[in-house]
Amino acid sequence: MTPPPEIRNICCIGAGYVGGPTMAVIADRCPQIQINVVDLNESRIAAWNEKDLSKLPVYEPGLDEVVARARGRNLYFSTEVNAAISTADMIFISVNTPTKTKGLGSGQASDLRWVEACARQVALHAQGHTIVVEKSTLPVRTAETIQAILQAAQQPSTNKPQRSFVVLSNPEFLAEGTAISDLESPDRVLIGGEDDEAINALASIYNQWVPTKKILRTNLWSSELSKLTANAFLAQRISSINSIAAICEVTGGDVREVSMAIGADSRIGKKFLNSGPGFGGSCFKKDILNLVYLCKHFGLPEVADYWQNVVTLNTWQQTRIAQLIVKRLFGTVTGKRLAIFGFAFKADTNDTREAPAINIALELLEEGAQLAIYDPQVKSNQIEIDLQLPATSCPDIKAGQTRAALNGEGTWWISNSVEEAATGSDAILILTEWDAFKNLNWNNIAPKMRQPAWVFDTRSVVNPQEVRSTGLKLWRVGDGAS
Ligand code: NAD
Ligand code: UGA
Repeated sequence: MTPPPEIRNICCIGAGYVGGPTMAVIADRCPQIQINVVDLNESRIAAWNEKDLSKLPVYEPGLDEVVARARGRNLYFSTEVNAAISTADMIFISVNTPTKTKGLGSGQASDLRWVEACARQVALHAQGHTIVVEKSTLPVRTAETIQAILQAAQQPSTNKPQRSFVVLSNPEFLAEGTAISDLESPDRVLIGGEDDEAINALASIYNQWVPTKKILRTNLWSSELSKLTANAFLAQRISSINSIAAICEVTGGDVREVSMAIGADSRIGKKFLNSGPGFGGSCFKKDILNLVYLCKHFGLPEVADYWQNVVTLNTWQQTRIAQLIVKRLFGTVTGKRLAIFGFAFKADTNDTREAPAINIALELLEEGAQLAIYDPQVKSNQIEIDLQLPATSCPDIKAGQTRAALNGEGTWWISNSVEEAATGSDAILILTEWDAFKNLNWNNIAPKMRQPAWVFDTRSVVNPQEVRSTGLKLWRVGDGAS
């Protein structure tokens, strides 16, 4: 086997939740490689360069330590995209690929404008031989588009030295909240491509800390499709268990017991069987919708319908929860104070993209609820963007109903603690499984609420006996006894 070309300089386009942490770990493990992470977003780059590591733009346990070790040594964050492209031997494209919101494929297909822009920028500024790596999640056969753009740039021209390109697919499987441990000890690294020399070059980088047997090699299309398939399968498990939770609630079953019982079958496995308020996050929904679009495009409507139902069930779960909250609060939440514990789409992240809390909060605001929102990491301005509604200040409970509450207008404000949020509320809704919510002192909280008061635990984090012993009423997802 010929030794892989030595990679001395990497450029990563896109300093988001994937580009930042992934490059930080590569830089940490490969101090001989200079890594430039570039982004058009100036404030994001400024945040990556923050001296105060608590202000990095992405909150991930352990990320600050990795960045502290590598930044300024061989890891750099900048907005100089073209310069970083021109010095790179290997370029990772790690930009956003959201669902299209208009035009052909609107609501399903991936919007590839940022990926194409990157390919064109690489075509313009790369020098010599460059390995281009798809890190973003992409529709199967996107590498064809990138190759076509780069091939056009490869044509000999009189005023430019000859350049050459190879495109590889190397999807990222990290989950937010555990990104650093996922990157440091991944279940597998997947590399798709046709050029052995380039594949070996990329594999040798990961090989600095990932065992060879975990570095899987496939063709380009299998690699692109495996990423969409992995997310579709994971999301499908959540919709499956959430559908069973609904059956438990009407039959007296307990979804936690059902999960435990089926998860003990080693063919099923116990991971990803936690029923909850539906999956959130930037990727599951968009990647399944992308798969649905591809199925339709390739003339497979039955397959498209099959996967579409995973998303439909997920949306239904959120609406179902919002509606059962209203029903249990005597059929109306208008003017009522409800405390929301957790806004992030899962614990240990500040990310709220597609968070179930958004849909549930919007449905309750529509009903005229007054929401006191507490999340240990999510900032008020992010919630304003998500709810498309400015925050109010926390109303003085002693002053009685606010004008907005009397008029039936839904409002929300940020709370600085669970106690503050719970004060005067008719219900607490636990929407994110933060550790901080697992050991709450219900004896302290219950007397602060307006009775009769409810706890709606969509994440199965509370101890039911502890809650009920304070006189609070409890609803838990998938609990036929509550
Ligand atoms: P993100 O939105 O957090 O970051 C993308 C960044 O790319 C943004 O900061 C944006 O400014 C920048 N960008 C866009 N076009 C650019 C250009 N032409 N030049 C320079 N910068 C540009 O997105 P993310 O969550 O990091 O996801 C990136 C990709 O990785 C997506 O395809 C996503 O599906 C995939 N992915 C995400 C996760 C996750 O946990 N978030 C996990 C695995 C895969
Ligand atoms: C997911 C995948 O797990 C990653 O492998 C993938 O790389 C990533 O998407 C991506 O492509 O973006 P992520 O969305 O960060 O990662 O987080 P998950 O842990 O998968 O959780 C997704 C959602 O499912 C969360 O809302 C979570 O609360 C929910 N979930 C998860 C459940 O409701 N039940 C479970 O048992 C597990």
